[in-house]
Amino acid sequence: PTTRTYDFVVEERMGTPDGVQKRMLVVNGQYPGPTIEANTGDRIVVNVTNKMPNSTTIHWHGLYQRGTNYYDGSMAITQCGIPSGESMVYNFTFDGYVGSTWWHSHAGTQYTDGITGALIVHAKNESVPTYDGDLALQLADLYHGFSPELLNLYFTPGGIDGTPGNEPVPDGGTINGVGQYGSSNTSFFNVTLEPNKTYRLRLINTGSFVGMQFSVDNHTLEVIEADGTAVEPFAVSSLSIAVAQRYSVLLRTNQTAGAYWFRSALDQDAFTYDNPGVQTEIRGIIRYGVDNDTVPDVALLDNPPSLPDGAPGDLDTTDLVPAGGGPAPNSTFSVYFTISMQYASGPNYLSRFLSFINSTSWEPLQKTSSLFSHLGNNTADGSATLADSQLVTTIDEVHVVDMIIDNLDDGDHPFHLHGQKFWIMQSGAGRYQGGAVDNRHPMQRDTLVIPAYTHVILRFVADNPGFWPFHCHIQWHMAAGLLFQLNVLPSESAKFDIPQYMIDQCQRE
Ligand code: C2O
Repeated sequence: PTTRTYDFVVEERMGTPDGVQKRMLVVNGQYPGPTIEANTGDRIVVNVTNKMPNSTTIHWHGLYQRGTNYYDGSMAITQCGIPSGESMVYNFTFDGYVGSTWWHSHAGTQYTDGITGALIVHAKNESVPTYDGDLALQLADLYHGFSPELLNLYFTPGGIDGTPGNEPVPDGGTINGVGQYGSSNTSFFNVTLEPNKTYRLRLINTGSFVGMQFSVDNHTLEVIEADGTAVEPFAVSSLSIAVAQRYSVLLRTNQTAGAYWFRSALDQDAFTYDNPGVQTEIRGIIRYGVDNDTVPDVALLDNPPSLPDGAPGDLDTTDLVPAGGGPAPNSTFSVYFTISMQYASGPNYLSRFLSFINSTSWEPLQKTSSLFSHLGNNTADGSATLADSQLVTTIDEVHVVDMIIDNLDDGDHPFHLHGQKFWIMQSGAGRYQGGAVDNRHPMQRDTLVIPAYTHVILRFVADNPGFWPFHCHIQWHMAAGLLFQLNVLPSESAKFDIPQYMIDQCQRE
């Protein structure tokens, strides 16, 4: 297997992704950061140097990290942060994951400020691309404010706009780091394709809050992958991608030669207040054919997209069928969780808007991690122990686990499970009422929206040792505590050979 080595230097910089200058946190001076591209089975070695004043980590979203849970990059869960001025080497293999994903900081809300990049994993022997071309498109919402300041406003008793719990509303967005805010930026991310070919577009929502609706003018798309699961090809005109989800779609350059917009629209249903000036649609340009220089007329920015006759509709994710997918194994263990959010105060909590899973609201531990604490590697004074704020479900032996989840909140939450994919066994309105699961060919993925006032049953095989968070990927909600941890096979994780310097870094975090 090939070893691929990268150097990441993380630092604060000013940037103007959509024409408006803002404070950013970036890797190697780039937004988005470097794309990592590999074959499954390859070893990846990433030396991360932290030049920011605060600790950081890098998480490899969707990867399994079998036997290397301590390289998962979840701050306060699988490691302490990399202290300011120090480095850490992540060294692991792409064990079985094939598809499109991304990496991002997993410390506070740092990735909101720019620490994100694409991660593309090809099949083992895929040396020649399967399609005529392959292109990652990172779609994200964008805030002009600096995320720690926005988070403070979100947490003030009065809330950011006078209503506690209203999430900060973005100012716009980007496609591969380029956006257009009002008239302040007229540059577009653009690609030149050849006519009469088939391209694979890998759509990744690297944003922090809202879903993005993606479409290409005059073209239909065919969905072939969702979160690393190959799916039966499904034709759509547009698709909505929640935060942290990924889809691969095929684009056929079979229209009249020329140039076309592709569009990434912010889901405004999630907006909690009016943000005047917000740029709700971000555009890029696809051009092909003899007319290579043609650029869509910017004056046409408000024209509705046009579609071929008889075009299909938007993607309904419940229509996705895994390619060759069969039934999931029967469950042998089940856990029940509720999701809620409310203004709360109490001995363990500051008075502020908080998220709850069951009755706990996650707060990251200082100077240790759940994993290190489990291994008895606390800091010098031994003071760090798992606090009440840590909801940890321990699974002592290999089980097929059903997580039954009632979303009692009035918001939709894109939940993500680290370390494995889950099968979606049941979803529906209201609380879980029992009833049969549909186990013919359940879809398997790692990030799923649990809509307001609905329930789901998510099934996975708990055979991958370590501490795995399950959390809402909306950065404001995770910071407010919407996270719990699975402690899978603790007797196996106790044998991990964790580099001593990672444990020592806790003292300087
Ligand atoms: Cu994309 Cu917990 O992460």
